[in-house]
Amino acid sequence: MSENKVTLNDQTTGKSIELPVLKGSQGDPTLDIKNLHKETGYFTYDPGFAQTAACSSAITFIDGNKGVLQYRGYPIEQLAENSNFLEVAYLLLNGNLPNTSEMADFDHDITYHSMVHEKLNNFMSGFHYDAHPMAMMSGAVGSLAAFYHDRLDPEDPNQRELAAKRMIAKMPTIAAICYRHHRGLPNAYPKNNLGFTERFLDTMFSVPAEPYEVNPVAAKALDLLFILHADHEQNASTSTVRLVGSTGANPYACIAAGIAALWGPAHGGANESVLKMLDEIGSVDNIPKYIAKAKDRNDPFRLMGFGHRVYKNFDPRASIIRKACHDVLNELNITDPQLDLAMELEEIALRDEFFVERKLYPNVDFYSGIIYKALGIPVSMFTVMFAIARTVGWAAQWLEMREDPGKIGRPRQIYTGETTRDYLKMDQR
Ligand code: ACO
Repeated sequence: MSENKVTLNDQTTGKSIELPVLKGSQGDPTLDIKNLHKETGYFTYDPGFAQTAACSSAITFIDGNKGVLQYRGYPIEQLAENSNFLEVAYLLLNGNLPNTSEMADFDHDITYHSMVHEKLNNFMSGFHYDAHPMAMMSGAVGSLAAFYHDRLDPEDPNQRELAAKRMIAKMPTIAAICYRHHRGLPNAYPKNNLGFTERFLDTMFSVPAEPYEVNPVAAKALDLLFILHADHEQNASTSTVRLVGSTGANPYACIAAGIAALWGPAHGGANESVLKMLDEIGSVDNIPKYIAKAKDRNDPFRLMGFGHRVYKNFDPRASIIRKACHDVLNELNITDPQLDLAMELEEIALRDEFFVERKLYPNVDFYSGIIYKALGIPVSMFTVMFAIARTVGWAAQWLEMREDPGKIGRPRQIYTGETTRDYLKMDQR
């Protein structure tokens, strides 16, 4: 952080104030306005917090103009190429890549926390058969606080770490229960002899009647998607987790709130919406009609999987997923007309002045759904896949926040309602 200052002159009062300029290890400088109201009487107005740093963080760095994403300083491309999801989880939580014994201990801890309390199965079986899995998941994660009420203290570092590991380990098991509930399948217990992603695929797709072999191509593809979705600095769901966490709420409540925020179609729900949109478009001939709808200011339709608050060049995750999508479909010998449709849509949009001017590029969710579909994962489960991976980021950010909780998150407003008026009795209105 630096000592530079920016002077703000108020032409109304003739007063000036010096605002300290804060500088992180990378990224744009930031004006420190903590004392602005106290010294000037002004608040700042920033809808959607688009210009506001709400915290400092050492976990994930994004340069949206250059298309850079790094976890703890490591470029996402290198992690995607060389690492695996559990190692990335360790990195995000602890700050450094693990050595052999640290990795073995972490793997052991996550593996041995993957089972859920049997009573949680009863809770889950109460949902209607067609409940959306995101509704089931946010309910289930919130309910974990009731199972571990003696280990919820956000002030205790050991309890914090335990809760983080429990959530990372149990999310795949809960996700599989959601899926199997809908399909009418008996729940499968997580197997300790399998790795994180293989274990998840087994709890999703194995049946008691016959042996199930996890397809290594499917496991590798899913593991890659988990790495790419693991964290993304202060996005809407992570900011939700931090905001709820700032109240001192228990970790399960914080992550359940994050899941709810992720569900929205402008955020993690976009992967589900992309496939629904491709279904609706139907064929290449209809693309111009839908591009015109996306450009029409009077039409609420948007190209799902396009655009990003921070990336104004390209989303580096989208480039990795685009390639993986082709590889996976080739290796699994699947031809999917939706991939051809998506590629054509991308090409037409990227040539269109409207999208070029606004720097709208495909984001992480544009191609991920096509991979999920190829792995046999139904559309309604797509955002759940995202939540499994992002639990690591939420947990890492919550742990970082609890190290130095600071103030409760509490934005201000510009009030535009009625000014003071007197109450009128019913017969006087
Ligand atoms: N299709 C058509 N037009 C778009 C799109 C889109 N997908 N995205 C943005 N625009 C237009 C807006 O209408 C606006 O145009 P205008 O300047 O003429 O009014 C301009 O581009 C800027 O858009 P904003 O909504 O101001 O950008 P913001 O940063 O607030 O929104 C967001 C980013 C929410 C991701 C947006 O691009 C969007 O809705 N995309 C579709 C949903 C999606 O794919 N979400 C996933 C994001 S990645 C993630 O969360 C994992």
